[in-house]
Amino acid sequence: MRSIVIYHSLSGTTRRVAERIARQINGDMIEITPEKNYSGSLALLKGCYRSIKRVADPVVPGEIDVSDYEMVIICSPVWAGKPTPVINGAIKVMTGCQGKKVFAIMTCRNKNSANNALAFFVEQLKEKGFVISKTVVLDKKDAFNNVLIAEIAEGFGDA
Ligand SMILES: Cc1cc2nc3c(=O)[nH]c(=O)nc-3n(C[C@H](O)[C@H](O)[C@H](O)COP(=O)(O)O)c2cc1C
Repeated sequence: MRSIVIYHSLSGTTRRVAERIARQINGDMIEITPEKNYSGSLALLKGCYRSIKRVADPVVPGEIDVSDYEMVIICSPVWAGKPTPVINGAIKVMTGCQGKKVFAIMTCRNKNSANNALAFFVEQLKEKGFVISKTVVLDKKDAFNNVLIAEIAEGFGDA
């Protein structure tokens, strides 16, 4: 089964999860970056504001076609209780999503706030025509638990 892991990561935690999963399932991987980088505390405040407002940032790559894949895994950090504007931007430019299996993964500091964030994450994915197979929320401890990540990746095949 051809799979792709698509992720945004500012400080590396989500990248770590995405890389481990992609390696285990032998999937392709795309890192999404914002056209205008978030760096420094003011930029992060702006990032939180944009997350709360559900903004979709212009992103690189500007087109993401998933039609060649049977399984799509999308990973985002939680910012201000929402998916990041960067992953929103990625979802916006995705094509070929109709009827495709998707797994949504969020990394966070606090699982309660991620559960809220998942709602908008899933809503956007459904709007694109994806079929949600599974959602996963990982706090920092989980994200560095290699056994747990391996179990999650193994479960993708059965979902
Ligand atoms: C701007 C910003 C806002 C954040 N807001 C939240 C939040 O509302 N809830 C939460 O649990 N974690 C929050 N976090 C923590 C990140 O979601 C968490 O550390 C995540 O794993 C970081 O992923 P990354 O290293 O791939 O960027 C925030 C981090 C940043 C930088």
